[in-house]
Amino acid sequence: MSGVNNEGFVQIEDLDQHAADAHRPTMAERQRVDYRTIAKDVGRLGEGKQYFIRTHGCQMNEHDTEIMAGMLEEMGYAPANVIEDADFVLYNTCAVRENAEDKVFGHIGTLKPIKAKNPNLLIGLCGCMAQEEVVREKVRVKHPHVDIVFGTHNIHMLPELIEQAHHSKETIFEVWDAAQGTVENLPKMRKDGVRAWVNIQYGCNKFCTYCIVPFTRGEERSRLPEDILNELRELAAEGYKEIYLLGQNVNDYGLDLGHIDFADLMDMAAGVEGIERIRFTTSNPWNFTDKLIDTIARHDKICNNIHLPAQSGNSQVLRRMKRGYTREEYLDLVERIKARIPDVSLTTDIITGFPGETEEQFQDTLSLLETVRYDSAYTFIYSPRAGTPATRLPDDVTEAEKKDRLLRLIGLQERITSEHAQEMVGKVYSVLVEGESKTNKNVLQARTESNKIVHIEGFTPDEIKSMVGQMILAKIVESKTWNLRGELLPEGVTV
Ligand code: SAH
Ligand code: SF4
Ligand code: F3S
Repeated sequence: MSGVNNEGFVQIEDLDQHAADAHRPTMAERQRVDYRTIAKDVGRLGEGKQYFIRTHGCQMNEHDTEIMAGMLEEMGYAPANVIEDADFVLYNTCAVRENAEDKVFGHIGTLKPIKAKNPNLLIGLCGCMAQEEVVREKVRVKHPHVDIVFGTHNIHMLPELIEQAHHSKETIFEVWDAAQGTVENLPKMRKDGVRAWVNIQYGCNKFCTYCIVPFTRGEERSRLPEDILNELRELAAEGYKEIYLLGQNVNDYGLDLGHIDFADLMDMAAGVEGIERIRFTTSNPWNFTDKLIDTIARHDKICNNIHLPAQSGNSQVLRRMKRGYTREEYLDLVERIKARIPDVSLTTDIITGFPGETEEQFQDTLSLLETVRYDSAYTFIYSPRAGTPATRLPDDVTEAEKKDRLLRLIGLQERITSEHAQEMVGKVYSVLVEGESKTNKNVLQARTESNKIVHIEGFTPDEIKSMVGQMILAKIVESKTWNLRGELLPEGVTV
């Protein structure tokens, strides 16, 4: 197929029907429940035992892992340093691309002989893959040594599923089609002491034609603002400084509640004392209102760092992806953001080799990168996901072409990213101290508002410890591939 023909568009028409067919829970089903009232008390079943959770996928999965770790530690489990020491191994999985799935089954396969030697080892599979029937079938047929399989809508059941698994020889499958409410007061074991993820919304209603997320995460559901603000206040009291508000479409926040939108929520969040920085992901190019841009511009605490996935720079491809905007509309939004927030750092997601993407259309994506000049881009080769409408679109892009486009895209973005980093050299930034660098305990690690890591040498571990959570001024002296090298400004120097 060359270009986009009418045939391509005709196939798009039934996509709306596809979306409409998906299960929509009613308002009554979508109730707020308290974990403390619904969780089954299983006691300290994990006392003396260790757990290991392997997490794939997005920040939402990372945060779900923090919640499940919280539940396990309430049961008495301790975290294992290595998977071999664990009595309970849990795979929190991602279904967004095929290779992630292959990896998980590879790992689970390697546990088979270990489980044969140690029948007390419990193995669990959860997350987005668990929502797929084909995956559950594969567990049934090929990996019966997995003990529990549960989905994204009922992670709060983990303790009782572990209890059941102790009495069952068969794999327990407990996967729900849809959420039955938002669950509050979940325990959490956050892995970082300075930055914290906070869910504001679950699910996705957009049904982009390539994407499995609406099927694995269900309909968009917003947490109540008072629950979110209470969590932020608690985090501030515990010493957290940087908050990451999470949702698949954060700028749709509140549409289901009716009386509040994302800009209002950010206004309120910025009022929480003790929180120094607020970030959010993912905000989408549609429904990114001028009110939202103004709110980001108005508050110092809201980072001028926006992840704005474009997916493609060509309007015909965007139409077939059902993204809801054209190249021109996207660029107009970028212009409006840059006009109001001149120092904004923009990042994006791009898919190459979408079915039928021509070289010419791909060139439009390259030119989009040049025009917007993103700070960084997450780039992916299109991966067909069973059950998504894009699998029915004609695809004549060869694997070699897809890979070649990906490499060209990465090459271009690397150049732009390093140009941005070069521009920072010699300038002074306010950075938030996170702790020691991963590789050297005498190097302090901090983060800029634009989400870049800065390393500053010459500290003792105790000095670094005493500075964690502080905002300091750093002059950038060198830009490296993955981070920046900075120097502390001498005492009393201000900018
Ligand atoms: N809600 C976010 C994206 C969540 S998924 C948004 O719309 O911006 C993260 C990224 O994975 C997407 O932005 C997209 O670039 C990529 N992705 C999703 N489905 C994919 C698929 N089938 N093949 C390749 N990449 C995909
Ligand atoms: Fe997937 Fe589109 Fe929803 Fe993002 S907005 S999660 S890409 S369907
Ligand atoms: Fe993957 Fe599910 Fe996140 S499919 S990207 S873990 S929402």
